[in-house]
Amino acid sequence: MRDLAAPEVQAMTDADWKKAVVDGVGKMKGIGTLSAPQLENMFAFMRTLKKK
Ligand code: HEM
Repeated sequence: MRDLAAPEVQAMTDADWKKAVVDGVGKMKGIGTLSAPQLENMFAFMRTLKKK
């Protein structure tokens, strides 16, 4: 799977991530729907992966 810590991925906005995860991107299937708290948690987790 994609390296979620990669600079190109970390340069994406929360809106881009929401679209990728909910609708899918390439070979990754979309999950369909996520609640607001689930999205907030996903964005927070994704930001922790950013290399310092
Ligand atoms: C917290 C869980 C996950 C998040 C937030 C996530 C997020 C993303 C994002 C944002 C991208 C797009 C990156 C880009 O545009 O370059 C991506 C791509 C991808 N993800 Fe995930 N992902 C997750 C879990 C998974 C899992 C569990 C798998 C495999 C079973 C997976 C497989 C892939 C693949 C294969 C791609 C590349 C799609 C393509 O370009 O063909 N992802 N993911």
